[in-house]
Amino acid sequence: MPPASPQSPPTVSVLRSLASLLPFLRRRPGWVAASLGLLLINIAIELSLPQILGNAITRLGDVANSEPFSLREAVVLFLSLVVLRTLIGMILGPVRNATVQRTLGDVRAAVYDALQRQTFGWHDNVRTGELISRASTDIGRLQEFFFVCLLFAVDVVAGLIGTVWLVFAASALLGWITLAAMVPTVFALGFFAVRLQPRWRKVHDRHSAMSTVIQENIAGVRVVKAFAREPAELAKFQAKKVAFLTELTSAVNYWAARVPFAQFIFGLSVPVVLWAGGRQVLAGTLPLGDLAKVVFYLLGLGNRIGVIGQITTIVQNAGASAQRVYEILHAPVELRNGHRTWPRGAHRAASIRFESVTFRYPRVPSLRLDNDDQETAATTPLPPKASRSLALDDVSFEVTPGQTVALVGPTASGKSTVLALIPRFYEPTSGRVLVDDCDLREFDLDQLRRGIGMVFQETFLFSASVAENLAFGRPDASREDIVKVAQAARADEFIRALPRGYDTIIGERGISLSGGQRQRLAIARALLGDPRIILLDDATSAVDPKTEREIREATLELCRGRTTLVVAQRAATVRRADLILVFTEGRLVERGTHDQLLARGGLYYSLFRTQLMEEAHGSETIH
Ligand SMILES: Nc1ncnc2c1ncn2[C@@H]1O[C@H](COP(=O)(O)OP(=O)(O)OP(=O)(O)O)[C@@H](O)[C@H]1O
Ligand SMILES: [Mg+2]
Repeated sequence: MPPASPQSPPTVSVLRSLASLLPFLRRRPGWVAASLGLLLINIAIELSLPQILGNAITRLGDVANSEPFSLREAVVLFLSLVVLRTLIGMILGPVRNATVQRTLGDVRAAVYDALQRQTFGWHDNVRTGELISRASTDIGRLQEFFFVCLLFAVDVVAGLIGTVWLVFAASALLGWITLAAMVPTVFALGFFAVRLQPRWRKVHDRHSAMSTVIQENIAGVRVVKAFAREPAELAKFQAKKVAFLTELTSAVNYWAARVPFAQFIFGLSVPVVLWAGGRQVLAGTLPLGDLAKVVFYLLGLGNRIGVIGQITTIVQNAGASAQRVYEILHAPVELRNGHRTWPRGAHRAASIRFESVTFRYPRVPSLRLDNDDQETAATTPLPPKASRSLALDDVSFEVTPGQTVALVGPTASGKSTVLALIPRFYEPTSGRVLVDDCDLREFDLDQLRRGIGMVFQETFLFSASVAENLAFGRPDASREDIVKVAQAARADEFIRALPRGYDTIIGERGISLSGGQRQRLAIARALLGDPRIILLDDATSAVDPKTEREIREATLELCRGRTTLVVAQRAATVRRADLILVFTEGRLVERGTHDQLLARGGLYYSLFRTQLMEEAHGSETIH
């Protein structure tokens, strides 16, 4: 295993991660009790069968001396117990399955919840493929672990204890021989198991790396095709697949080659018992039937040793997955929630104040990865904190309630970052952000975020109907409300032209819609939440100037009384803003109204002359 890079989250032991799953079983006490109760009854039946057989053999060998013995009774008893065991088994299977599936469902819900709670910084530093692999494949593997808890482990432990006890009851000498054979067998299995464990972790990490390639190729299929990179991507996938299969084969083979050895050690006990017990029978100190019982028990134990092998494989396999799930479930959530309630109602426009805000994007690996990429990452250390550039450098400004503020500046100057700090997607590295003169951290996070309407620079739409997408933040919105915001965002017309209007299902990324149409849906979606603050990040960059003007005029009405921050490229939007903030390299370098800034002849003036004026040619007159 390559050494984890110094920034990696700490490793948690396999046992601890598995133990952390046990409380999930406690959530289903009835089901667990039913599964275990039925199982224990079956084990008791199983252990009593050799007793019936052994006693019958003793009686049959000694017919002359003993009191009358009914062979038929013994057979009927044996048969009834076998039938009972089968009946219980038929109920037990479905009960256990239901218990495991319900518990697994609880784990899935907990992982989903943990993923939702994680900060943007955490998600920035983790690949989607890795998360998908952990949230699906790894959780799937835990299913077997729960079967171990509810079946194999109980079966082996109760079976072993019961057997050893019953063997001792038959003959102390044979009891000791059994124990003597069991101890080295268990040690051998343990020894191999410890060596096998890291191999399973590697198997899973390689599997994740492979899934990441698949996920990125599906998500980025257009890019792959546009650059005709299919062969290269296929080769990349093949390499990951080979790495995974090699690791898997090596783990499986390692174990497969060693279990028979452990079974062999234990198997030696049968001839020894036959010899020692046989001598006792010959000497008349042990009934023949008791020797038979012990041999039956030993054969049963031999099978259970095989099950121990199976448990070890499952526990290790699941253990590696449990570790990977644990890292998600127990990732520290840095964002603390506040308790201040967020005033509702659009008429209560909010003020926003940035006080000496400095921000640097966090760069900490969110999850421990042991695959090749991590190896490369470990050999190319991240630059020290001080040398990484600041996304925002000592930014202070104030927006009064109801103002519309435009953020302008060259690319990567920090405009989107300013917006991201307002719904607390990230925490300032230093300084504070205040709304209504209260530090953002004081507000209840959900209320804060619901109170903000946001249009991201990249639009993501869900694979659902147009109406459902628009009502994402307010599922109870009426159709009239939905149509009203769609009209304001100039989306109503094209939505009605869709095959099923507002009920048309749109693709995962709204793929059947154009960039401009998607942006308009995003604007409508943000407005529908009745937010006090509206953040628009390049929200109209993909629509033509005429539509943009229409949107601006229509949303003016809806935005009235709400504090609006807009990152914009278009002259027309920018110049109408109450306040313009000009950023470059994370610093706020100029502020004022359009006229003030033009008169100043600084960065805004030059931006305006080049970038802003270019698209203003023709359709938009600046002055
Ligand atoms: N999630 C992130 N993780 C790490 N660094 C980031 C992240 N998002 C942005 N950055 C960096 O922060 C800096 C500011 O980026 P930001 O997105 O705020 O720029 P911007 O002004 O919105 O640019 P554009 O006009 O191109 O959208 C850039 O150097 C960028 O590389
Ligand atoms: Mg941006």
